[in-house]
Amino acid sequence: MILVTGGAGFIGANFVLDWLALHDEPIVNLDVLTYAGNLENLASVWNDPRHLFVKGSIADYDLVAGLLRSHRPRAVLNFAAESHVDRSIHGPEEFIQTNVVGTFRLLEAIRGFLALQDETFRESFRFLHVSTDEVYGSLAPAEAAFSEDRKYEPNSPYSASKAASDHLVRAYHHTYGLPVLTTNCSNNYGPYHFPEKLIPLVIHNALSGKQIPIYGDGMQVRDWLFVKDHCSAIRRVLESGKVGETYNVGGRNELTNLSVVNTLCEILDELRPLPDRASYKSQITLVRDRPGHDRRYAIDAAKIERELNWRPRETFDTGIRKTVEWYLANEAWTENVTSGSYRQWIDRQYQ
Ligand code: NAD
Ligand code: TYD
Repeated sequence: MILVTGGAGFIGANFVLDWLALHDEPIVNLDVLTYAGNLENLASVWNDPRHLFVKGSIADYDLVAGLLRSHRPRAVLNFAAESHVDRSIHGPEEFIQTNVVGTFRLLEAIRGFLALQDETFRESFRFLHVSTDEVYGSLAPAEAAFSEDRKYEPNSPYSASKAASDHLVRAYHHTYGLPVLTTNCSNNYGPYHFPEKLIPLVIHNALSGKQIPIYGDGMQVRDWLFVKDHCSAIRRVLESGKVGETYNVGGRNELTNLSVVNTLCEILDELRPLPDRASYKSQITLVRDRPGHDRRYAIDAAKIERELNWRPRETFDTGIRKTVEWYLANEAWTENVTSGSYRQWIDRQYQ
């Protein structure tokens, strides 16, 4: 039994689905279901007896302590977070509450639980904290990619809150001996990605005939990894990672935002041509830049490749095509998640 938090979100849901497809081991899935958590992502495992969904927060110490006592998971994997940089700029409070206070309470509940277990259980237990490359800040164009010993220089309320959570995880290992593992991954893309983030937003806006907003000059660089490759890296770190260590995860796919958007438009032009044979590129619009926008992220994945023999399966070309195909085959999913509060967010962000 493993306990996953945030398993109704983008990466967490992909992780749960892949895990149950590959393993017999059951999952307790704790998710408070914010706007980003969507039970539809879990529809295919809803009646699977190996999947127990619990609606609740990682910040609820008593709830988490009770789940740990009754299920005695061998590992806790923490995906739960507020994850969107733009939302953190408009309203940082939730990011501190969930990412910092929530992670702290989760760590406390695990510390209390492990104190009551015997040494054999404690030694094999793992807490895996899922984090981001954004904690390292922004790279200059020719600078070397982020390795694990890069200093933390977070620039947004989101990345600062994730950095704080990483530090708490580290401290609980050094101070209390918690058997922790941390992964810092680059930008993910793939199925079930909420359409507030660049790639699903572009697909959604293109298909809806809306403008495709590019912040600033569009020359910011991100290092893209297909979500299922991130999930395989997490499984590998859980199995074989060294306690107390951090692992950077990335696909060596550095691309400017403009080139990502152009690629998406070209795939859509091919798979869902516009009636007049125009290109979706004509919908691209440069809009006001994000405040404090990090210019470049890039991950040096040498450690996880060398020590844990992990490699991504998808290149950007194969992964992005699968992603567009998924969105074209699942328009009802996008339709459902873009109703209600989503519209208010879009009006506010792109007014
Ligand atoms: P997401 O926003 O899609 O999903 C987050 C999930 O956490 C949602 O289901 C939400 O309901 C849940 N949640 C929020 N607060 C909670 C709480 N207090 N208790 C329980 N559940 C709560 O995020 P994501 O993109 O799937 O990211 C998952 C994790 O991976 C995050 O920690 C994020 O920082 C990290 N990460 C994301 C990326 C990326 O590109 N998306 C890259 C690297 C790391
Ligand atoms: P995003 O998907 O929000 O991820 P992150 O900020 O965590 O990297 O954004 C990816 C890049 O795309 C980032 O440089 C901001 C940019 N972007 C746009 O240009 N337009 C948009 O509408 C969005 C949402 C993002």
